[in-house]
Amino acid sequence: MREEQIKLYYKNVTSEIIGDEHGITVGQLKSLAEKTSPLIEQLNKERKEGKTPYRDLPYKTKTVKQVKETADEFKDRCENLVVFGIGGSALGNIALQTSLNSYMHNLDDAQRKGTRLFVFDNVDPAQLSSFFDWLGDKLDKTVFNVISKSGRTSETAAQFLIMNKMLSDKLGPDGLKNQVVATTDPKQGTLRNIATNAGLRCLEVPDGVGGRFSVLSAVGLFTAAMCEMDIDSLMAGARDMDARVSCEDFYKNPAAINAAINYHYYNHGKRNSVIMPYSYALKDLADWYRQLWAESLGKTKDLAGNDVHIGPTPIKALGTTDQHSQVQLYREGPNDKLFTFLQVNNFDNDLVIGPAPQSAPELGFLAGANLSTLLNNEKKATEYALLHDKRPCITIEFDRVNAYAIGQFIYLFEVTTSFAGALFNINPYNQPAVELGKEATFALMGKADFEELARQIRPVTKIDEDFLI
Ligand code: PA5
Repeated sequence: MREEQIKLYYKNVTSEIIGDEHGITVGQLKSLAEKTSPLIEQLNKERKEGKTPYRDLPYKTKTVKQVKETADEFKDRCENLVVFGIGGSALGNIALQTSLNSYMHNLDDAQRKGTRLFVFDNVDPAQLSSFFDWLGDKLDKTVFNVISKSGRTSETAAQFLIMNKMLSDKLGPDGLKNQVVATTDPKQGTLRNIATNAGLRCLEVPDGVGGRFSVLSAVGLFTAAMCEMDIDSLMAGARDMDARVSCEDFYKNPAAINAAINYHYYNHGKRNSVIMPYSYALKDLADWYRQLWAESLGKTKDLAGNDVHIGPTPIKALGTTDQHSQVQLYREGPNDKLFTFLQVNNFDNDLVIGPAPQSAPELGFLAGANLSTLLNNEKKATEYALLHDKRPCITIEFDRVNAYAIGQFIYLFEVTTSFAGALFNINPYNQPAVELGKEATFALMGKADFEELARQIRPVTKIDEDFLI
């Protein structure tokens, strides 16, 4: 029997629930359907023409086979997987770890399947030094997966160079070859060249698939395979969601509806989009979504070349933690946000709350309840409080957190992003603003051919002591 589909519940954005000023009326929903329906056809057509290759990743059985074979080469002799990457080359891996590995995966041998996993998406010397101190002489029991599509990102390059020296100092000339998997562009780039010259094992970031759309390629799958996540169910979930988000009936297409609601609110004064999982396991999917949404939709120009400076701001919160941090603002501050809750109906492991001591009979209301009941009632309570103040809310409902559900979620939000891009009439697949930052780093670090940029940067970043107090 096929496991449960994730569901999108959107009644709590309607005017019936939060009134005409903040809610979507029947007429407005009809207009959104009319605007979005042709875009469903358009996206399906573009996909058939090969313009959105990320859409086909869940069908790449060859990639799955190659990833599993590569993982098999390391599994018996390696205890640790270290991923070096950043942005789309790391956030999907982190999200998979938090959602599909148990909370104590790295610490508890009994709870861990496969290798420990450490994903580094920063160049903080304190963090990396501490890690390498722990790793010590376990280098030969560690596989390093360096992920960079372009192969020229400074952070990942620096991590690679540190690791390269360490491996050759401690394990000799074959250290790199024995312990490293490079995931990069199939043909070109610095990392590809290094890998070819050093004879490293390689996996591919497929042509035309940007980092933030790549988690279902070898980028995320090698991590999944090393930690013995259920890759087949992950991909099956994505494929099943593909059928739903390709459906040309707007009202049956969760990606089209999700994008249309977000688009509506952006144009009606709610330019912030809060995603709030009520599940620790889903916490880092919110981070992954934040990058997907921000880099894809935050754009200067529309497709006609007009300056539009468009893009909803994605905000990450965690229930119940942020009820005690953000909800005061969310309820009483500006009504400028759309809320998307992630709710899990069944937890594989649950706890029963113990009896109240005689000295505190007022805690009796909690006694005997499952912790998951408290968590989900807190979600309902927060949603009720937000609706009371006319704040629109969507819920994505998971029957339970497993690979099949995560595959669905990833695909749902990737295609939602494509629909939102089409509604905003922008290109969601590039990230020109990130590129300038990368080049400015080259310039500041003294890379050849970037001298002119360095000259432009220096006066802007020079500290003016008059303003330093
Ligand atoms: O989504 C994207 O394209 C970016 O976030 C990239 O993944 C990120 O900048 C890292 O780039 P690269 O994989 O080329 O090192």
